[in-house]
Amino acid sequence: MQKTNQLILPCMAPIKEDEIDTVAKLDTLSSLTPWNFNQYSASYKNPHHKIYTIVDHSISDKIIGCVVWSIVFDEMEILQFYIVNEYKQKGIGYYSLGFIISDIAHEFKINKIFLEVACNNIPAIKLYTKLNFVIMSTRKNYYLINGVRCDAYIMTLTI
Ligand SMILES: CC(C)(COP(=O)(O)OP(=O)(O)OC[C@H]1O[C@@H](n2cnc3c(N)ncnc32)[C@H](O)[C@@H]1OP(=O)(O)O)[C@@H](O)C(=O)NCCC(=O)NCCS
Repeated sequence: MQKTNQLILPCMAPIKEDEIDTVAKLDTLSSLTPWNFNQYSASYKNPHHKIYTIVDHSISDKIIGCVVWSIVFDEMEILQFYIVNEYKQKGIGYYSLGFIISDIAHEFKINKIFLEVACNNIPAIKLYTKLNFVIMSTRKNYYLINGVRCDAYIMTLTI
């Protein structure tokens, strides 16, 4: 694990059950398509899912983000991912997903990573593109964000 800058020391670890409530509340504040407590709880109990918190070690393990993924055979799907607002645009999203690609995907011999992203979510699309994900297909009217329908891109990274 490396520092992304001089102040923040992000670290990733499997979520503990008593952190689910906090992670769901932070997601509501951080994402346009947040997961609620029930979705995180169901994911926590799903043997194919993993939930990792991203914590700032420099501030007594404060939770600053979360990522959820599933693994089936040699494919991984990123199901949910956010960085809390005050930690955005500091390289932590890039670092965290980079860790998943280089360490977790490697450990589980993953060949492909998939994710869905709203086609107007420019920060996320730019992040994924920077990590070499490409748009594979479009799901029409997949998301309902603030009452407005928008398409989803399915992006994929071949490892
Ligand atoms: C998408 C998200 C996870 C990015 O995390 P982050 O820590 O802010 O991203 P980073 O600081 O690591 O940025 C990495 C790259 O992402 C892109 N990026 C990040 N924020 C951006 C913004 N506001 N505008 C444009 N590009 C942006 C850039 O390409 C950036 O690289 P650069 O700094 O060299 O330009 C964060 O914005 C977020 O939590 N958004 C809400 C939840 C969400 O949309 N999740 C994805 C669901 S599919």
